[in-house]
Amino acid sequence: MIRTVATQPFDDQKPGTSGLRKKVPHFQQPNYAENFIQAILDGAKLEPGSSLVIGGDGRFFNASVIRTAIRMAAANGVAKLIVGRGGLLSTPAASNLIRKRKAAGGIVLSASHNPGGPDGDFGIKYNIANGGPAPEGVTEAIFRRTREIREYKILEEDAPDLSIVGTTMLGETEVEIVDPVADYASLMEELFDFAKIRAAIEKGLTLRFDAMHAVTGPYAHEILERRLGAPVGTVLNGTPSEDFGGGHPDPNVVWAAPLVDLMMGPTAPDFGAASDGDGDRNMILGRGIVVTPSDSLAVLAANAHLAPGYARGIAGIARSMPTSGAADRVAHKRGIGLYETPTGWKFFGNLLDAGKVTICGEESAGTGSDHVREKDGLWAVLLWLNILAERGQSVSEIVREHWAEFGRNYYQRHDYEEVDKAAAEELMDNLRDRLASMAGQRFGTLVVSEADDFSYKDPVDGSVSTGQGVRIVFSGGSRIVFRLSGTGTVGATLRVYIERFEPEPARHDLSVEEALRELTETADVIGEIRKRTGRDQPDVRT
Ligand code: G6P
Ligand code: ZN
Repeated sequence: MIRTVATQPFDDQKPGTSGLRKKVPHFQQPNYAENFIQAILDGAKLEPGSSLVIGGDGRFFNASVIRTAIRMAAANGVAKLIVGRGGLLSTPAASNLIRKRKAAGGIVLSASHNPGGPDGDFGIKYNIANGGPAPEGVTEAIFRRTREIREYKILEEDAPDLSIVGTTMLGETEVEIVDPVADYASLMEELFDFAKIRAAIEKGLTLRFDAMHAVTGPYAHEILERRLGAPVGTVLNGTPSEDFGGGHPDPNVVWAAPLVDLMMGPTAPDFGAASDGDGDRNMILGRGIVVTPSDSLAVLAANAHLAPGYARGIAGIARSMPTSGAADRVAHKRGIGLYETPTGWKFFGNLLDAGKVTICGEESAGTGSDHVREKDGLWAVLLWLNILAERGQSVSEIVREHWAEFGRNYYQRHDYEEVDKAAAEELMDNLRDRLASMAGQRFGTLVVSEADDFSYKDPVDGSVSTGQGVRIVFSGGSRIVFRLSGTGTVGATLRVYIERFEPEPARHDLSVEEALRELTETADVIGEIRKRTGRDQPDVRT
């Protein structure tokens, strides 16, 4: 019953920051998805008797590729498949299932926060046995297979009905369809004080969670409305749709504008949050305040001990290099380790496995802990709620007290999207060429103290990742970082990260634009952004 299909390699199946991402029509080319799945199954080098977790964020093409992946895994001899009902699993829930069921890995179908639908984006990523994104050694092995593949294996028989929880046999393979929410919700109950949060809600703490028509809807309905007793209607856009209601399931001020407007308006609840397509990102808001991801990481790290799962304190904090230094100040004051890694959650995996860090975060709206090996949107929401319930203060009071204690890192990211790829690469090359002579140069009142191209040596396995972004640091600690995104699907996205530290509480009320004006102008002078990209303004400021 196993069919072997002849195929030809595609030359564009190199996994990026987070798996392989392309437009849906690109993925729909004959054999395109099949080739990549076969390359995963070959590159992952599974032991006999292994299990795999399979699920996705419910976007267009998800249902069809899930069925293909099930039939291919069975044809390739995988002993057991654990699949989310309806093909749904949020990325953190998939990570949890891989760990809990001791699976060898998981195939997660998602293009995260990118838009969906027939002309939208699609993606496939592979996670390893610790529940985290495949490290570079594994993604390279997968990529090598995509270049040499000549055939793939698929079962003739169709995949079972994915809407019914239970176990069936497909050929020699056991296929178990599981409730995608149950195990994840129990894990959250272990980490957080649900009774305390429930009591705070009963006493009047109000909240809204925008699932953005994506995968977290069912999770949030269960956890926030059912288990924590928030009123029905707390979860907005809670039914997953294949095109995310026509929007981008990206929790930022642009794509979650209705939630932001609510939180800035007269009828704002105490707490607002949103998550992305596959449920790993988060946006946190209070009445009248948007908490930047970098600040949120620092506040969560400083207050995590208030939640039962972290009551014994945290071992250390890791952040991606472009993330602001706010968390560094918490680590320094608490005497715990701080690790600076390249962009991409996969770099946290070894640090978490080795027990060097408990909490990790990225400026790209990701925060998480050692409970799984992915960032986790609802986890961040629940830790915030636990902290609010314990401290009995507003989001804004907590953030302002945090700044007063640790100082404020004014921070903004500027994205130039769909820039000509060659022009963007030249911009970066040109910056790299000038790095050696940069120290000591003066730009207005700013003097460069250090400039480099970030490279990272993993302290656990010794692997080295170079070319991870250009850092220009000025005396006083202000910083400009230039980097090309690894997740775009069209042209290149230039990201410019701008940061200034302000210790003085009397100066914590500046607008971010004002606080960063000189640095922003300097970024254009140093990077020649206008000249090289032809753009006057970034497309998005987050
Ligand atoms: C994905 C990864 C993150 C990463 C983000 C931004 O969401 O999981 O770890 O920070 O992409 O990557 P980019 O390369 O687009 O800046
Ligand atoms: Zn995501």
